[in-house]
Amino acid sequence: MGCAISGLAAKSDFGERGTDDAPAHLSDAQIQMIKDSWKLIRDDIAKVGIIMFVRLFETHPECKDVFFLFRDVEDLERLRTSRELRAHGLRVMSFIEKSVARLDHLERLEALAIELGKSHYHYNAPPRYFNYVGAEFICAVQPILKDRWTSELEEAWKTMFRYVTGLMKQGYQEESDRRRQAAASPKDRPEKRSTAL
Ligand code: HEM
Repeated sequence: MGCAISGLAAKSDFGERGTDDAPAHLSDAQIQMIKDSWKLIRDDIAKVGIIMFVRLFETHPECKDVFFLFRDVEDLERLRTSRELRAHGLRVMSFIEKSVARLDHLERLEALAIELGKSHYHYNAPPRYFNYVGAEFICAVQPILKDRWTSELEEAWKTMFRYVTGLMKQGYQEESDRRRQAAASPKDRPEKRSTAL
């Protein structure tokens, strides 16, 4: 479970409170660094997706409860060979791939991330949990990049996750407000929220 980021840096940048909700700005140099490093990461996305989620469940067991299929799994090592977790990890990593591809068109990434936040409202995934994912992603990709990993690259990926999760939180909030308004209106009956996995 050890990873250089899991110390203070992880807490201040990805914790529940603090600067993580401030709007994130990606510089051109950071965008280039992310795109270059992604070329090295993308061959291993299935592996990274699994490592990232097993780590997430180890460091934040409360996240496991959101997943119907995983909430009762006690032995996290078993999840490393789970087809469902592999598929879920791949969905998340494909989203990261799409995000990297849209870094030159941030308005398109913005729309995508807001929509994703809205769907997470229906998955019952609380926004405060979004903050944890970037740190686990970083821990999972560091060993792939080996000595190509630098503090500047780490900062670039942290900023990208802050950017994306900030928009996801906005989408979640918009969906939550929309549902509340619909529930208040006598015409519209609220639909049941579900856990998809
Ligand atoms: C950076 C943060 C995250 C990203 C980028 C992300 C991305 C995704 C993506 C791409 C999907 C596929 C379905 C869709 O497109 O709507 C998904 C589904 C889901 N996510 Fe997330 N997610 C994040 C954080 C979380 C967290 C922290 C939780 C819970 C602790 C969570 C719970 C779920 C659930 C329950 C599903 C539905 C099952 C599935 O499709 O596999 N997500 N997420």
